[in-house]
Amino acid sequence: MQQYLLEFEQVHYTYPGAQQSALNNLTLQIPANKRCALIGQNGCGKTTLFLLANGLYKPHKGNVKWQGEALKYDRKYLLQLRQKVGLIFQDPEQQLVASTVEEDISYGLCNLGLPDTEIKQRVEQALEEFGLTTLAERPVHHLSLGQKKRVSIADVMVLRPQLLLLDEPTAYLDRLHTRNLMATLKKIHASGTTILMATHDLDLVYRWADWIFVMDKGQLVLEGEPEYVFKQRQILEDLQLGVPLIYEMLFSEELAEEPVLERVRQKILNLFRYF
Ligand SMILES: Nc1ncnc2c1ncn2[C@@H]1O[C@H](COP(=O)(O)OP(=O)(O)O)[C@@H](O)[C@H]1O
Ligand SMILES: [Mg+2]
Repeated sequence: MQQYLLEFEQVHYTYPGAQQSALNNLTLQIPANKRCALIGQNGCGKTTLFLLANGLYKPHKGNVKWQGEALKYDRKYLLQLRQKVGLIFQDPEQQLVASTVEEDISYGLCNLGLPDTEIKQRVEQALEEFGLTTLAERPVHHLSLGQKKRVSIADVMVLRPQLLLLDEPTAYLDRLHTRNLMATLKKIHASGTTILMATHDLDLVYRWADWIFVMDKGQLVLEGEPEYVFKQRQILEDLQLGVPLIYEMLFSEELAEEPVLERVRQKILNLFRYF
């Protein structure tokens, strides 16, 4: 049976002073062990969903549940929740808190009150894993954006979350760093972490995700495996999201009658995938 890590049940959330709800009766379940992508137009509520997912915001109506239990909002509970549900903000500046890279990565562990020896060991491991060892002593404000992004991921991963939430992680990354990030996510997923990533990059979604959520106006409008979701062209066109380029080409009307294409289509699609 499918297990869900985090569930949104008819969740409403409206920002103070806003005319419309940011989340409007959102029901969504994040399946354990999947690589989930969250897509939707600007302003559809992706970031708001993340902020509710780790308890930074509280629903005005409805429930957010972690492993079947409604979240509580006291300090102690939230501290524990944020260890299990790691959120990586779109803008790394929002994430970094300490002066040096090493201090930044150890910050969350110190908050958990772990023994010093364990903190030291975990920080060293994280520095190595994210290619930050030579930058350990560097002040975070001297880093490039790509390096800051890596530190912000290390900050969260060092806590060993069960669910990793990434808000548009490739927004500030060039091609090389995007590839590195995808390689990192591959390792993170292989080690048993469930991932939910919000992104605008549909090619990336197609190459990476095994489950896709499509949101519009604070609601879930479509979900499923990539092959299924990208077949719902009309819905995606109506939302002005379109479909991945490779999909556009391989399923174009002009080529529909090509028997050769029919034979190789699946092979090409598989080659395109990261996994
Ligand atoms: N701090 C805020 N104050 C008021 N309204 C906000 C705030 N943040 C987001 N919103 C509004 O909430 C809606 C959802 O925004 P957001 O969750 O940021 O969407 P997305 O991440 O999908 O672009 C939008 O209409 C946005 O304008
Ligand atoms: Mg956003």
